[in-house]
Amino acid sequence: MDLAYTAFQRAFLKETGLDLTSYKQRQMQRRIDQWMNRHGLNSYNDLIKLIQEDPEKREEFLGYLTINTSQFFRDKKVFDNIKDLILPQWQRQNIAPRIWSAGTSIGAEAYSMAILLQEARLHYSILATDIDEEALQQARSGFYREHQLQGVPPEVLKAYFTKEGDGYRVVESLQRGIIFRRHNLLEDPFGRAFDMILCRNVFIYFTWETQERLLQDFARALRREGYFISGSAEQMTDPGKHGLKRVAHCIYQLEK
Ligand SMILES: C[S@@+](CC[C@H](N)C(=O)[O-])C[C@H]1O[C@@H](n2cnc3c(N)ncnc32)[C@H](O)[C@@H]1O
Repeated sequence: MDLAYTAFQRAFLKETGLDLTSYKQRQMQRRIDQWMNRHGLNSYNDLIKLIQEDPEKREEFLGYLTINTSQFFRDKKVFDNIKDLILPQWQRQNIAPRIWSAGTSIGAEAYSMAILLQEARLHYSILATDIDEEALQQARSGFYREHQLQGVPPEVLKAYFTKEGDGYRVVESLQRGIIFRRHNLLEDPFGRAFDMILCRNVFIYFTWETQERLLQDFARALRREGYFISGSAEQMTDPGKHGLKRVAHCIYQLEK
């Protein structure tokens, strides 16, 4: 065991509330070392001192560690499946879905869902959460530069964004249906009775035990027959254990 790293994990938890033991160690340590090299820090103690003394660096480091890359309509096939398989069901059953985008990052995932739901003329509410305050700030602003809008078809860009300076801002009607909130998946309580939970490209950073625990918590947070959406690089080892059945690529449904 790496004692220096264990001591760092403890100090870091105390400072930030983020429990690094739940994340895959090799990957985390590599990222931490990279950041320390880049900032000329020689020890974990120096790093702890820096985040104690400099709130801006603390946020920057947290953002770097939790990797908040995202895109609109990321893994298009998944959004196509949601559109073709799930939205018609909700329309037929006259459901106004409650959706949770967990680990939403800059909000692209939540806005992509909102666009699909508006196109389908469904009423909805979306809760979008992340641990990273900086990513949430961008999500709330709804402002994106062109490179972040690569997955957005031109007709969608025209209908749901307005050009502003060197980027685009989502229209107000999209912003209105989404609540962005800070939430630590490892620590904070989960809501209940969601019709859909998206937690994509977040599990990959967690240890297997943490993934198992989270999947159980997500299953409990769904209403019966609600949907859990994973990222395409994520393997759910035994979804059946939590009452979840795979119904399509990255889509799992809680049994009745
Ligand atoms: C790669 S992004 C995924 C964004 C989006 N879901 C997607 O697929 O495009 C991973 C996100 O997980 C968030 N995250 C990491 N650990 C977290 C935790 N303990 N609680 C909540 N969010 C966390 C990060 O801040 C980051 O924004």
